[in-house]
Amino acid sequence: MANLTTKYLGLELRNPLIVGSSGLTNSVEDIKDLERKGAGAIVLKSIFEEEIMLEFKSVIKEVEADENNLEYYDYFDYKIKADNIKRYIKLIEDVKKEVNIPVIASINCVTAQEWTFFAKKIQDAGADAIELNAFFLPTDCSKTSQENEKIYFDLINSVSKLVTIPVSLKISYYFSNLARMIKTLSETTVSGIVLFNRFYSPDFDIDNKKVISTHVLSSENDLPISLRWVAIMAERINCDISASTGVHDGKALIKQLLAGADSVQVVSALYKNGTSHIGTMLKELEVWMDKNGYKTIADFKGSMSQAKSNNPAAFERVQFMKYFGEMKL
Ligand SMILES: Cc1cc2nc3c(=O)[nH]c(=O)nc-3n(C[C@H](O)[C@H](O)[C@H](O)COP(=O)(O)O)c2cc1C
Repeated sequence: MANLTTKYLGLELRNPLIVGSSGLTNSVEDIKDLERKGAGAIVLKSIFEEEIMLEFKSVIKEVEADENNLEYYDYFDYKIKADNIKRYIKLIEDVKKEVNIPVIASINCVTAQEWTFFAKKIQDAGADAIELNAFFLPTDCSKTSQENEKIYFDLINSVSKLVTIPVSLKISYYFSNLARMIKTLSETTVSGIVLFNRFYSPDFDIDNKKVISTHVLSSENDLPISLRWVAIMAERINCDISASTGVHDGKALIKQLLAGADSVQVVSALYKNGTSHIGTMLKELEVWMDKNGYKTIADFKGSMSQAKSNNPAAFERVQFMKYFGEMKL
C-alpha cells in the first residue's frame, strides 16, 4: 500500500493534496469536512491587507467618529472590517482546536507597509504557516521591473522579521524574468513558493458594452502553465514548491508531483465536484503508485522535472512548429 505522507514548508502532511485558499476554507465546519474527506492541509481564505490597515488606523478614527459627519460612515465601514480581523484570528484559533492537519493562514497583500504586524498575530493564534498572496498587476509604465520586484523582497523581509513559522509566497507569472525571480525569491527566508495564483480577469459583454469577469473557476486546460514552471524550477531552487491552478483530477495531481511539486493545491475541482473529490483524487494517486511500484512520494517526486529530463528542451518549446507543419490551417 502506497505511503502518501510528505513534507511541505517543514510541516508533516499525510498526503500532498492541499485545499487552496478560497471560500471552501473559511469556516471551522467546512475545514473539518475537508479534513474528514482526506485533505493533507488547508490554506485559509485570505484576509486582505486593506482590512488590516483599516484596523491599524482605527484608533485615530475612533476619536474623530461623529454620527453627524461623513466620517461616521467611514467609521461604520471600518468597524465591520475590524470585526473581520477578529473573526480571522478566532477562525485560526478555533480551527486549530478542531483539526489535526496543518492550517496555513493567508494574507492578500500588495505592499510591505504597516500591515505586516498582523503576521505576528496570525502566528500567535496558532497558524502553522503563512502564505502571502502577493500580487499587483505591473501596469505602471513609469516603473521598472526592479521597482516592481523590490516589493516582493521588502514584503518577505518585513514579515520574516516578525514570525518564526514558515512563510510561503504565492505569486503570478507576470515577471519579466520569471525563472530568475523565482530562484532569487527562493534564496530569501521563504520556505515555499506557490506557482501560480489565478486572478480575476476581465472580459467584455459586447451587447451591453460592459466589463464583466471571465470564469472564476479554472478548468483542466489551465494546468500546463503551472506544470511547465514547476517542472522548470523544481530541483533548482532553495525552497519548496506548491503547484496551483488547473489541478482537476488525480492525473493532474500525479503530473505535478512528477514535475517536482512538494504539495499540490486544489480549489476549482472541489467547487465543481464537491469535497468528496479529494478522496477520488487521492485514490487515483494511490492506485497509480502501486501500479508503478512506488512506495513513497519521494520515490518519484521530481523525476520528470526539467533538471532530470533527458529532453530538457521539451519544456522550453513554445512555438507550434510541429502542428503548423502537419495541420491544414
Ligand atoms: C471562489 C474562489 C475564492 C478564492 N479566494 C482566494 C483567496 O482568498 N486567496 C487566495 O490566495 N486565492 C484565492 N483563490 C485562488 C485559489 O486559491 C487558487 O489559487 C486558484 O483558484 C487556482 O487553483 P484552481 O485551479 O485549483 O482553482 C480563490 C479561488 C476561488 C475560485
